[in-house]
Amino acid sequence: MPQITTRYVMVVLVSLLVLPLCGCGDRNPQADLNPTTGKHSDPAWLPAGHTAAVQDHGYNCTECHGADLQGGISRVACTSCHLENARQVHPAGWGQFAYALHSQFVRQNGTASCAVASCHGSDLNGVSGSGPSCSSCHLGGPLSAHPQTWNADILSFHAGYGSSYPTSACATAVCHGSDLKGVFLSGPGCNVCHTNL
Ligand code: HEC
Ligand code: HEC
Ligand code: HEC
Ligand code: HEC
Repeated sequence: MPQITTRYVMVVLVSLLVLPLCGCGDRNPQADLNPTTGKHSDPAWLPAGHTAAVQDHGYNCTECHGADLQGGISRVACTSCHLENARQVHPAGWGQFAYALHSQFVRQNGTASCAVASCHGSDLNGVSGSGPSCSSCHLGGPLSAHPQTWNADILSFHAGYGSSYPTSACATAVCHGSDLKGVFLSGPGCNVCHTNL
């Protein structure tokens, strides 16, 4: 029965080739590492690619990043970039109030953990598709919402703002509000002091 034997051998061979592939069915295809570089092969892995992988495939990162996502055999903890937790880039407690609660964090911890290449950029000038530049809101650089010179006496100095800054610089959604009527936990409404604004 040479034909049966040949067919049997073929079936075994094909099974041997296919079975290992099937066994990896629950593996995240985007998480496969490039064998030459040893890095994630998706060119868009940072900043947004890995987010999509997590959302599409659940948290199937543990086999390499550890059951607690603190590094495992990859030695890259999710919190080496994320602040405090693997699932969100910012501390969970910030919720929708990141615009206001980040200032206290930076005062206490400095900017090192924001100045990550894939987050707000090592120069804090922002990263395309990721965190904005600190100066997209601030007028005085990463550490100062207002121009630094104002900090000495903000009541006097802001009075001349019109010659240096357009109203739109104050009327942003997270600063004094697009209608200048103030923002919860952030800048007061101009009308708190001015009757004409
Ligand atoms: C097969 C093992 C493996 C799996 C599975 C895996 N990773 Fe990784 N990951 C690594 C290794 C090794 C590195 C370090 C090399 C590198 O930078 O790519 C790494 C690095 C990273 C980095 C940093 C990349 C950089 O350039 O700094 C991120 C982000 C990351 N992984 C996210 C994830 C996410 C999210 C998942 C799950 C959806 C995941 N990984 C699944 C092995 C893995
Ligand atoms: C090299 C830095 C880096 C590492 C390491 C890293 N992340 Fe991220 N992660 C980011 C950045 C930057 C973003 C924001 C990307 C964006 O805005 O699209 C992000 C966003 C996310 C998001 C979307 C949630 C949010 O708050 O925006 C998830 C989920 C996520 N990462 C999961 C993981 C997991 C799980 C790991 C570890 C396996 C990991 N990340 C490791 C940099 C990193
Ligand atoms: C979406 C707009 C926005 C972005 C982007 C932003 N900030 Fe802010 N920041 C604010 C607002 C609004 C305040 C004032 C609210 C407060 O003090 O709670 C502020 C205040 C601060 C303060 C307190 C100093 C001061 O003058 O009030 C620090 C420190 C700070 N931000 C750091 C940073 C850093 C570092 C970055 C970039 C990684 C950054 N911010 C990005 C809106 C922003
Ligand atoms: C905490 C009270 C207070 C708030 C809030 C405030 N101002 Fe003022 N503003 C003052 C005082 C006091 C002066 C007069 C300062 C001086 O002349 O030295 C002034 C002066 C000014 C002037 C100069 C013209 C004038 O009316 O005297 C302008 C323009 C101005 N503020 C704009 C704004 C804008 C825009 C906002 C909101 C983004 C704002 N102010 C919020 C107290 C405030």
